[in-house]
Amino acid sequence: MRIDVITIFPEYLHPLDLSLIGKARRDGALDLQLHNLRDFTHDRHRTVDDTPVGGGAGMVMKPEPWAEAFAHVIEAGRRALGDDQAQPIVIFPNPAGEPFRQAAAQSLSGEQWLIFACGRYEGIDERVYEYLRDTGIETRLHSLGDYVLNGGEVAVLAMTEAIVRLVPGVLGNPESIVEESHSVGLLEYPIYTKPASWTSPDGQVRDVPEVLMSGHHGRIAQWRREQAVQRTRERRPDLLGE
Ligand code: ADE
Repeated sequence: MRIDVITIFPEYLHPLDLSLIGKARRDGALDLQLHNLRDFTHDRHRTVDDTPVGGGAGMVMKPEPWAEAFAHVIEAGRRALGDDQAQPIVIFPNPAGEPFRQAAAQSLSGEQWLIFACGRYEGIDERVYEYLRDTGIETRLHSLGDYVLNGGEVAVLAMTEAIVRLVPGVLGNPESIVEESHSVGLLEYPIYTKPASWTSPDGQVRDVPEVLMSGHHGRIAQWRREQAVQRTRERRPDLLGE
């Protein structure tokens, strides 16, 4: 899979060198390329923003550097993929976008090429989205949650991790994906490890639930299902339509 990120803060994405995503890059399962939007400006100050037409607070990202950046990134991506017809999906992290959920991560993990475009300030000139759509490029706006970040970079870190860990061969144990929270529409059941009996620093003896020690796979599976439903009802009744 290839992922390009266009941002004015490439350093924000450096944690993608670490852990599982870093290993996927080193193993060749992920080709991740960072691009500085300011490299596509032509003035001394490398300006990427200007005041909003019509008035209002804050600054808006100018269309010209974005158009140049997309032209460069799309050409470089097609060359790297060895396919001059390859079409990326362009994702704009945006608090006004569609909520980014596990189903979106799952479906994007099957794509060969994603471009993340990180807005800052009040956002990007609307004509950039129009231009991409008119030239036949698929664009999506995704929100990480109902709160406002200073820009899309943190959202890209989260979305990239959620997507890339689902790419076949990236996660060490594919079975752990099957039962985790959100993969089946429920939150995950409580989990325990050894020792089976643990005395916590407050002096309480805390035992692992007995059913888990029974060795009875059917009863364990049923207990876990019940716990998952109960936990979801308590914490996220919206997932159950309640
Ligand atoms: N940019 C700013 N806030 C955001 C959010 N909540 N999700 C995605 N991108 C953002």
